[in-house]
Amino acid sequence: MKLQAVKGTHDILPDQQAAWARLERAVASVLGRGGARRLSTPVFEYSEVFAKSVGESADLVVQKEMYTFEDRGGRSLTLRPEFTAGVLRAFIEHGMYTLPSPVKLWSSGPLFRAENVQRGRFRQFHQVNLEIIGLPQALADAESIALLYGVLEACGLTSHHVRLGSVGDPEDRAAYNAYLREALAPRSAELTPTSQERLRLNPMRVLDSKDAGDQALLDGLKRPLDMVGAAARAHFEQVQAYLGDWDIPFEIDPAIVRGLDYYRRTAFESHYSGIGAQSALGGGGRYDGLIESLGGPALPGVGWALGIERVLDAMAEEGVRADEAPRPALFLVPMDDAAVSEVAALAARLRRRWHVEYAYVRRNPGKGLRDADRSGARFAGLRGERERAHGTIQLKQLDSGDQREVAEDDLVSTLLAALA
Ligand code: HAM
Repeated sequence: MKLQAVKGTHDILPDQQAAWARLERAVASVLGRGGARRLSTPVFEYSEVFAKSVGESADLVVQKEMYTFEDRGGRSLTLRPEFTAGVLRAFIEHGMYTLPSPVKLWSSGPLFRAENVQRGRFRQFHQVNLEIIGLPQALADAESIALLYGVLEACGLTSHHVRLGSVGDPEDRAAYNAYLREALAPRSAELTPTSQERLRLNPMRVLDSKDAGDQALLDGLKRPLDMVGAAARAHFEQVQAYLGDWDIPFEIDPAIVRGLDYYRRTAFESHYSGIGAQSALGGGGRYDGLIESLGGPALPGVGWALGIERVLDAMAEEGVRADEAPRPALFLVPMDDAAVSEVAALAARLRRRWHVEYAYVRRNPGKGLRDADRSGARFAGLRGERERAHGTIQLKQLDSGDQREVAEDDLVSTLLAALA
């Protein structure tokens, strides 16, 4: 068998790192300026952490998308499929509820879902995740959306848009679910098997179906937003008012249903057309009640996660330029065998300041200069018998072709002046 990466997983190649670094800088600066602090949690948790949070109708559960295994002691462990559950577990475990409210935590790293692989949908993927814990006010929902918008803007994206909805309070959800169950009951056998399962567990998730037949059965039926109660509606209107005040563009999506069950009231997604069917760059919402159900205090929360691979895909579509790969300042060429260890020692010293490369074997000047050129270096430094006798290096500026002999002791000051 030829060894290759597991389906749905990807290597992040050196040429792709600059785009990742740009995104990571944007995230750290926007979320940091918004008062969030970084939290890193383990890549796997006891399976109960997810079983208690994502909900029985989540695709992660219904479609068995979690990578779950037993450790040697027979405990069930799961590779994290999302951040929220582990972040809240850590929040509770470390007593972060005693910190001044709100507590804003951001995280980033790999996640694992056993999904059908397609553009934008992988089995190992990466998210940036933000949670704002402790505020019941609509201001927190709006701030969280503004931070998502700010991160995408700082990544250089211009044509992403926010879809905003509300799934209501638990009693509104229950009423809507009862309504949908009754409305669909006579024709439930015509739904796809996944939608039939959703109709049984959490009817509102049927709205999420991409199947045209399912959607035809939903035609003319009410959407969750139509049945949101007065309190949740007032909250939803406040969220909109803040976003309006802050000039964050959004559109209302009355049928927004998220793939995880823990949402209450506000639910939102940020989309980008032009990256295929999986157009959600990120999504999130409010999850009051979740911290309590995980064994913590009754604190409200709101947050989101964005899919890093999808944001990078959108950045590439929009032609956002990542920083160029760093170029060496100097490429050293040993012109005889004795010079190999001399240039190696010189490189080790100069690397305290600069990116320095060298040829690892003796090179004639022509070949050595070609190597230096290919490395993208600004300068080449040649060293052979003659230079050894004089205690010098031949320093050649590669774009202009200027060459001069520099005493070894003057090399640092010469480069300092030239590279300033
Ligand atoms: P989610 O909607 O499941 O939410 O995921 C958020 C984003 O992660 C998606 O919009 C998408 O960009 C990316 N994503 C999800 N699955 C995949 C995949 N298989 N391959 C590539 N990208 C993917 C959550 O995970 C919630 N925990 C967000 C949240 C935080 N809600 C409250 N706090």
